[in-house]
Amino acid sequence: MENWKTTKNSIKKDIYANVEKYFKSISLDDLKPSKWKVPIGGGFYDHNEVNSVIECYLNGSLSIQKPVAEFEENFSSYIGCKYGVATNSGTSANILALNTLIESGELIAGDKVAIPATTFISVVTPILQLGLVPVYIDVKDDLNMNMKELKRALLFEENIKCVMIVHTLGFPADMETLMKLSEDYNFKTIEDCCESHGASIKGKKVGSYGDISTWSFYVAHNMTTAEGGMAVTNSENYNTILSELREFGRLKTYKGERFGYTKDNLVDFDERYVFHRIGWNFRMADAPASFGIQQLKKLDEMNKIRKSNAKFLIDNLKKHKNLILPNYSSDECEITYYSFPITLKEGSNISRKSFVQHLESNGVETRAIMCGTLPDQPSLKNSVHAITGDLKVSRYIRDHAFFIGCHPMLKQEHLQHAVDTIDGYLK
Ligand SMILES: Cc1ncc(COP(=O)(O)O)c(C=O)c1O
Repeated sequence: MENWKTTKNSIKKDIYANVEKYFKSISLDDLKPSKWKVPIGGGFYDHNEVNSVIECYLNGSLSIQKPVAEFEENFSSYIGCKYGVATNSGTSANILALNTLIESGELIAGDKVAIPATTFISVVTPILQLGLVPVYIDVKDDLNMNMKELKRALLFEENIKCVMIVHTLGFPADMETLMKLSEDYNFKTIEDCCESHGASIKGKKVGSYGDISTWSFYVAHNMTTAEGGMAVTNSENYNTILSELREFGRLKTYKGERFGYTKDNLVDFDERYVFHRIGWNFRMADAPASFGIQQLKKLDEMNKIRKSNAKFLIDNLKKHKNLILPNYSSDECEITYYSFPITLKEGSNISRKSFVQHLESNGVETRAIMCGTLPDQPSLKNSVHAITGDLKVSRYIRDHAFFIGCHPMLKQEHLQHAVDTIDGYLK
């Protein structure tokens, strides 16, 4: 028996050593999506992540065992919060966050939730799916919600009970103003941080301001678990509800007692099949959680590379006066550059379509700024919603902006290629 244990451990050691050897023998290009010279994103990982995943499978750690709890603990304390509830995506984290405010009695069907008009679809779909009403608020040039427009909505729209703020593409939204407004107008705050892992304002991390923050660990994001997400909070009550809703609505106090439950018509009933809430199955599995534990250790380093890539792009592109580029940094905010947004200046007479086609035909991948303007989407234009103002900036961005990659897989030669391609088009 002892012998077999020793043999098993030695086989495992060989496997881990071979994976390490493999990663040491390849270059980042072997992991980079091959179609593009400058892709918009990609997983930046090595033997540490892959061996952690293999370890789960070799040890029978499949679903919601130690790695998930460890990832929740590590990630939430990195953000500066007490609790994390890992999920299978950022979309499901958004559903859980809103559903938790409904279960706690702080939101009811028909209540309004203010969101930025320019963002990803998963910010609004959970609102509609849960019987709430989105209120679209215009954004500013920095792509984040315009607080003046939000204030206008709070004054003129009844029933805004929650604001779901998004920290867009790594740029922190104005949380100080938002938190002040939330006191004055008494609404709940969910921070969607799916694009902003590690970003901060005066040293305080985004995701630690609101009632609940939500995160995505999809591939293109600042850190990844391939697919995955998390809801983070400082509230014990929200943590309990989030965990219960994540797993079918089963009580968090569940201990798996075979004949452990007696109440009303259920007598000596198997506790496993007792459900107190109407929940979902949004669990994260152990393998992605293990991957995430390793990624988190590198997050600050990866964000540092993103920042220096952004600096390179800004320094080399600022000569083009007809482009609006992001600010490299501000005294107050740590920006984590999920991607590099470029907006064409008003009156510049540049066609975004032909500019973007030129970039793509030269291997520089581009994306629109997420969904453009949400209420202009086919699935949303006729769904129940409210709008404050004319969403002028959002619609300008919808028609005149795009982003390119600035992630850690890009080396100087890739960034230079992006700059040369842009120079070539604009000259
Ligand atoms: C702002 C925002 N919220 C939510 C999501 C959804 O995350 P996921 O793709 O993990 O479901 C995304 C996705 O990229 C996003 O950008």
